[in-house]
Amino acid sequence: MSAPIQQNDSLAKDLRITGCPKELNYEGRDWTAIGQGYQYTAYGTSDEVLKIPLTAEQVHAKFRIYDAGMTLEQAEEISSNGFIVIRLMKEKLDEQKLPKNIFANPLINSDLSVMQDKVLPLREAFNCADELEKQKLIMQYAQMASDLFQYGAYETGFGLLDNFGLDAKGKIVLLDFGELTFDRNEALSSIRDRKWMDDRGGCKFFDGELLAYYERVMEVFFNERVLDKSWSSNA
Ligand SMILES: Nc1ncnc2c1ncn2[C@@H]1O[C@H](COP(=O)(O)OP(=O)(O)O)[C@@H](O)[C@H]1O
Ligand SMILES: [Mg+2]
Repeated sequence: MSAPIQQNDSLAKDLRITGCPKELNYEGRDWTAIGQGYQYTAYGTSDEVLKIPLTAEQVHAKFRIYDAGMTLEQAEEISSNGFIVIRLMKEKLDEQKLPKNIFANPLINSDLSVMQDKVLPLREAFNCADELEKQKLIMQYAQMASDLFQYGAYETGFGLLDNFGLDAKGKIVLLDFGELTFDRNEALSSIRDRKWMDDRGGCKFFDGELLAYYERVMEVFFNERVLDKSWSSNA
């Protein structure tokens, strides 16, 4: 987390020109591509992650898998809309309205590239967990995601395996804040629709007993009563 912001900004620009190589050298360290979603390519060393926004062309190529007729301009619009919440996060973090540790200590640069602590994505934690440990992870995830209410934040994606991870202290953190909302009404309607049981959410990864456990736990932490009690719009 030591790199000055200016350097990161120029690095991000260089990467866009070179088209995000699989491996890069920055500050004399080797960064290896460790993951990609719809907004970022993530590069990691042993303890840090650098996330570079996807170029419009990359976003276009990704979205076209679902919509062959999509134009580059449409992809650009989807992409730039997707970064609205990242800009908002940057403001809130800069104004110290949100704690950094629950987001893997992010440093959001003005070009929206992100430096962050490297954490263990929950998918990897689940892969080597037994049934009891999986239940504990689900419980801690639900607790953490509902703790966000006190900052007026709500994670709408429920992609717990890819977007949440375990930090060095063994605490669950949100590594991808691209699907946060700070809108209470949106949070309320997500709760009413039980969005965590959607295909996109965690439930698609669980079955049998574990799915039933996930459903029970989510109902305890994600309901209107908890939202009413904990939500704060001060952040
Ligand atoms: N801080 C991190 N520690 C470890 N892996 C990470 C970290 N940030 C991102 N990744 C990996 O990169 C992937 C994509 O990053 P993410 O922030 O989720 O991008 P997107 O917003 O495009 O989905 C994640 O699913 C995860 O596998
Ligand atoms: Mg993601």
